[in-house]
Amino acid sequence: MKNSLPKLEPVTSEWMFKIINDFNLQESLFETYNSPINIHDLPSFGANIKEYQDILSTYKFKSRIFFARKANKFQNLIQAAVENGIGIDTASLQELQQCLELNVDPTKLISTAAIKNTKLLEVAIKNQVLLVIDNKDELDQVAQIAEKLNIQALIGIRISGFEYEGKKLMSRFGFDIDQVNDLMVSYFNEDDKHLFKIAGFHFHLDGYSTAQRGEALHQTLDLVALLKNHFPLSFIDIGGGILMNYLKHQNEWNAFKEELKEAVLEKRDAITYNNDGLGFTNRNGVIEGQLATYPYYNENSKASFLKEILDVANAENKTVYQRLETLDIELRLEPGRSLLNQVGITSARVAHRKIDARGNHLIGLEMNMSQLKSSSADFLLDPFATFKNPDSNAKPVAVYFTGAYCLERDVLLKRKIELPQLPEIGDTITFVNTAGYMMHFFETEAHLFERAKNLSISENKEHFTVDDFKEE
Ligand SMILES: Cc1ncc(COP(=O)(O)O)c(C=O)c1O
Repeated sequence: MKNSLPKLEPVTSEWMFKIINDFNLQESLFETYNSPINIHDLPSFGANIKEYQDILSTYKFKSRIFFARKANKFQNLIQAAVENGIGIDTASLQELQQCLELNVDPTKLISTAAIKNTKLLEVAIKNQVLLVIDNKDELDQVAQIAEKLNIQALIGIRISGFEYEGKKLMSRFGFDIDQVNDLMVSYFNEDDKHLFKIAGFHFHLDGYSTAQRGEALHQTLDLVALLKNHFPLSFIDIGGGILMNYLKHQNEWNAFKEELKEAVLEKRDAITYNNDGLGFTNRNGVIEGQLATYPYYNENSKASFLKEILDVANAENKTVYQRLETLDIELRLEPGRSLLNQVGITSARVAHRKIDARGNHLIGLEMNMSQLKSSSADFLLDPFATFKNPDSNAKPVAVYFTGAYCLERDVLLKRKIELPQLPEIGDTITFVNTAGYMMHFFETEAHLFERAKNLSISENKEHFTVDDFKEE
């Protein structure tokens, strides 16, 4: 049976290799900050912001970008976002309070928290932070708090349920678009003017369809036009979900999917732990299901993805960008993942090596599954190993990386990975492009493990020393 492993070479940046290729630097970082560590390159974050700013500046409509903070918890990114001229989309009371404590101008903050308790609503209203309202209970509480504090609340309304190809795009979030007109008329009348200033509409769609986003924008623009004489709205916020690309080669991506299916059908050796199909299943010799991972390879990403949304035309052949201009509506974006492209790496030390009863090499790393985990079924990027004693005559070895939790499933990558040699205790493994959701989103302190330290570098240097890495 075929046993060679498909590769998935990631897109990388020069700064990463200045760390990956320097074993001594990594060893000093681990001595200082323990394993694992997350390292963030702030200039790469700035470059991503600029890519959006550059494309948006080619249009005549107004626009604003808010960094979706939930994608990464590292505090140093907040200042970096503000310094690069964008705002912050906060998703909890704590995220909001942290931004306020860091003296971020409240006009640069919004709250899209899925759950907004009274305290959050009070803090936002007191500080004049725009609240994106999800439901009537929130609206009623906002009205009560605004009345009590005698402060007009600044709000946007979250919408969902857009019609696409004859079907509704269902969501647990927001008000159904068909009810928004009635809601506006019943809630935002003359008597309540002192309570609310309704400034715009918001949506965030699941998945990565530009056509759906374009269609949702048209339907929201229709609503804005319909309500124009009674409610002069100023923005539409389209949330995040702008694709990014993680992989260098489309052919590797396609080959990987084919090999995975072959493995699930038992026509080749497993390429994943326990022959996990990552969404594919074998039903009587036929593949069923879909790959349940992020679409790691994309030709269309960031600026080109955004342009594709703006170019979607309606039945009158008017594009989104033309209508934004005509109606003088500001386009707002809340990218998270795509602003973190090439921004982060996660490195961990090898703690042990072993061979299990099936003959698999298991490499135990000083980290756990919560420190490299997203909602995706696996993180499909080849990691990099740094050896204290590289051996050019060594034989490649296929391994799985295992973590520190007492769970059978604490296998850090489900994919089997080929390394140029068997690592030794103290050698290091680096996972690249982990800043967006991977390093923080599910991080826990189970077993009392400390959370990984987060460090940033803020300039490009020929050689880094430990002093170049800043904690929050
Ligand atoms: C309301 C909202 N805005 C922004 C984002 C950020 O999306 P992404 O990181 O995919 O750009 C999300 C992600 O879930 C979201 O729910």
